[in-house]
Amino acid sequence: MGTNQSDTFDIGEYTVHRLGFGAMRLCGEGIIGAPDDEEAARDVAREAVDLGVDFIDTADSYGPGTSERLLREAGVVDNALVATKGGLLRSHDGDWLPHGDPDYLENAALASIDRLGVDSIDLYQLHRPDPDTDFEASVTKLAELKDAGLVDNVGLSNVSVEQLETARDHVEVATVQNNYNLVNREHQDVLDACEGAGIGFIPYFPLGAGDLDEKAEAVDAVADAHDASRYQVALAWLLSSSDVTLPIPGTSSVEHLRENVAASGIELTDDDLARLSE
Ligand SMILES: NC(=O)c1ccc[n+]([C@@H]2O[C@H](COP(=O)([O-])OP(=O)(O)OC[C@H]3O[C@@H](n4cnc5c(N)ncnc54)[C@H](OP(=O)(O)O)[C@@H]3O)[C@@H](O)[C@H]2O)c1
Repeated sequence: MGTNQSDTFDIGEYTVHRLGFGAMRLCGEGIIGAPDDEEAARDVAREAVDLGVDFIDTADSYGPGTSERLLREAGVVDNALVATKGGLLRSHDGDWLPHGDPDYLENAALASIDRLGVDSIDLYQLHRPDPDTDFEASVTKLAELKDAGLVDNVGLSNVSVEQLETARDHVEVATVQNNYNLVNREHQDVLDACEGAGIGFIPYFPLGAGDLDEKAEAVDAVADAHDASRYQVALAWLLSSSDVTLPIPGTSSVEHLRENVAASGIELTDDDLARLSE
């Protein structure tokens, strides 16, 4: 299996390969706490960097804290742009609770800086707008964190086009991270807006969280033609669907990681793309 052959994208002063790695699956079941085998999780992160992945997505809420800690312990933080997020709390039984209070966000960013062992966060994303907090207040705090040098670049996640435009009045938005994949194109308008503005679009659940059954027939036909897996086709499709997409497939398995990175070498034909768009 080859190394990362995807082309590159600029996030502020950083240039990264467009095919990244999502570090949420390094955690235990339900993205709560540690995995059974922490060293195996660290090995997955190390292997990603060894394969030429230099863009890793995480969040303080993965664990909480666990994914960021494992990335630091794996020694990959200095060898990749690490994008983390704040703005979600976890309950012990796994709920994801939006919390966009500005003072909380500042506290969360400081805690992420400590866990990651960095002076500043390469890319800090608001995980989700909080319906109980003024969105502009959350975004203004991210702008302040950037001005203070605690955050190098600001990103958003789970936003509409309207929220993206509102945020851009307060801060330069480097990336937007929304659910987008072969079987869910609900946020096509947000991808189009990012493309128009040269903003990176990070499609999360790039493999449909492991379930691409809805498009199985078309995906499997294209996969057969390329002697590839359906997951590789899903990633190749995301990379070819726009110049600004930065897919972050998640896995807890070195074998799956290698397969996913190798997808960067697959060139889909116009016929493949037409078939996958049906
Ligand atoms: N911003 C947000 O609100 C948000 C929400 C969700 C996720 N995210 C980010 O997006 C990243 C990706 O999301 P995700 O990990 O949930 O979903 P995903 O990348 O779409 O799919 C991951 C799932 O697919 C399986 N998988 C991965 N590669 C495979 C392969 N080659 N063959 C077979 N199965 C494979 C994984 O299981 P194995 O572990 O067995 O490989 C896992 O169950 C996360 O890591 C996180 O960083 C962000």
